[in-house]
Amino acid sequence: QHGRVKVKSTAQQEEEKRKEREKKLKVYLSARDAVFSKKSNGVLDEEALQLTQQLLSSNPDFATLWNFRREILLHLETEEEMQKLYELELLFTESCLKVNPKSYGSWHHRGWVSSRLPRPDWPRELSLCDRCLSVDERNFHCWDYRRFVVKASGVPVSQELRFTDRLIGSNFSNYSSWHYRSTLLPLLQPGTPSPCRKPAHVSPTASPQTHGHRVCEEQLLKEYELVQNAFFTDPNDQSAWFYYRWLLGRAEREEMISCVYVSREGERVTVAFSKLVNAPAEGLVLVLDGQPQQVEWRSVHPLFRHSPVWLCELPPGSISDINNEHNLTVHWTEKHTHRDCALYTGRDGCECGEVSELSIEKTSVLQSELQSCGQLLELEPQNKWCLLTTILLMRALDPLGHERETLAHFQTLKEVDPMRSSYYSDLCSKFMIENTILKMEYAEVRVFSLSDKNLSTLCHLDQLLLVTHINLSSNQLLKLPPQFAMLHCLKVLEADNNAIENLEGLYQLPKLEDVSLRNNHISKLSTLEPLVSCPKLIRLDLRGNPITKTANIQAELAQLLPSVTDLLI
Ligand SMILES: *[C@@H]1O[C@H](CO)[C@@H](O)[C@H](O)[C@H]1NC(C)=O
Ligand SMILES: *[C@@H]1O[C@H](CO)[C@@H](O)[C@H](O)[C@H]1NC(C)=O
Ligand SMILES: *[C@@H]1O[C@H](CO)[C@@H](O)[C@H](O)[C@H]1NC(C)=O
Ligand SMILES: *[C@@H]1O[C@H](CO)[C@@H](O)[C@H](O)[C@H]1NC(C)=O
Repeated sequence: QHGRVKVKSTAQQEEEKRKEREKKLKVYLSARDAVFSKKSNGVLDEEALQLTQQLLSSNPDFATLWNFRREILLHLETEEEMQKLYELELLFTESCLKVNPKSYGSWHHRGWVSSRLPRPDWPRELSLCDRCLSVDERNFHCWDYRRFVVKASGVPVSQELRFTDRLIGSNFSNYSSWHYRSTLLPLLQPGTPSPCRKPAHVSPTASPQTHGHRVCEEQLLKEYELVQNAFFTDPNDQSAWFYYRWLLGRAEREEMISCVYVSREGERVTVAFSKLVNAPAEGLVLVLDGQPQQVEWRSVHPLFRHSPVWLCELPPGSISDINNEHNLTVHWTEKHTHRDCALYTGRDGCECGEVSELSIEKTSVLQSELQSCGQLLELEPQNKWCLLTTILLMRALDPLGHERETLAHFQTLKEVDPMRSSYYSDLCSKFMIENTILKMEYAEVRVFSLSDKNLSTLCHLDQLLLVTHINLSSNQLLKLPPQFAMLHCLKVLEADNNAIENLEGLYQLPKLEDVSLRNNHISKLSTLEPLVSCPKLIRLDLRGNPITKTANIQAELAQLLPSVTDLLI
């Protein structure tokens, strides 16, 4: 027997591992219980610091513990010992980050510690970021921390931009560097009046991340050049195109009350905003003839807590007499902005403000960008990034003038990238709707006609507040979504020859009289229920819908919608 190592069986090993895990868990749980008991008793001592350290080392995503730890540190810190205390804390977070470099809790805590530290060592923090990013350039927590360090240490943004220049120069496919650049650029002119001209105003929904600042045009020109180098080098490199899209969409919509509509008959005020708001929480005040009114703001549909359109009823009799003139102001106190309206004698109502903000400033910069993209497209006619960017540039420059080319490019896009075909359909629908809004404004009409355009979805409905007639016939719509309830002036709706099977949005439309839904997919009586809430509905055309085949449908409809006198089935 001598000389032989005793070999443990697998079962034995498993059993030992299990025991080991159990022991660890027990230790963890008793530490956790001890911490929570200290926390609830407000005991902020060294031992609590020890215990949280022990727990966070194994689980750095335990937010409550980080919070508690900060409380303890604040309690323990003294002027003499502060530097030492927080330097130890930096060492601790560093060890946590070694275990999990993507732990939000650890990065966040490190940021807090750095800002408490009396004598922070920013170069060390920057080099920590460098090390971390060289391991994983997609660690966005680390990029965020780097941005914090740059800001706190006063490293000029221009220097950081040079840093990304260098990285991009060495490899254009560095998505992280482009991304970081997009977060730095808006910091170049934070809030200060910029010597540059206001940048082009691009479509209102384009940009997800502008951080509330505008990038000046000269800087933009430089950026466009940089990014052009990138895609002439490798036209299939996504990262540069993403950045380019960001540059194009950088302009932000102003926060404002875009339109107020007052109806004498309904004794109702409807307010449209340039973004989604929760009106009751945003300090919205209605003043009628100098008197602030006690009103209750409602969104247009019970489904929306946030909406671009809100309405309220005025006290009975306050504006209904057509022989009285009234002045009305809606104040958006949180944003220090308001809109005035005058309701004249002899008028049924009034409307104040622009409905749409899709106006676009043309710039020579974008024009030359479009030319470059055109050149690239000649070399690479199937390049989807280039096609999409061309479309975006055309929209920024002259959406109506380029409408036909845009449609053709969308058609090509769907062919070369069939996987995203429905995305392109929806995007194209959005652009067609924007174009139609523009046309409607130029013509100063309240008729929105967008038939036979392959529309797959509806959007920007908040900008159609004042529209009275809509024609959406011969498209590919599946529903009239709840947002449709924003169309408070709508009288006539035509939506024949679609595939509509849901009418949720035909809800409490105060003026709706005439609805034509021939040849759609309406099959159930319950689908028509929203129409019950439209008080003026008198005409309904349902010919060519499955529902018309139902027995006794005439009588059931008469019962459901008694106000409809002109029913076509
Ligand atoms: C991309 O940029 C990051 C940022 O620091 C850098 O660490 C990484 O090495 C770069 N990647 C390439 C392939 O150049
Ligand atoms: C640039 O980075 C990409 C993605 O990280 C990589 O695939 C490519 O090989 C790099 N090119 C060079 C020249 O380093
Ligand atoms: C609505 O569009 C359809 C399809 O283009 C058309 O046939 C119809 O005449 C239009 N309705 C009105 C009122 O113009
Ligand atoms: C609608 O789609 C069809 C099929 O894809 C296409 O032939 C037609 O040109 C499109 N119409 C418009 C207005 O884009």
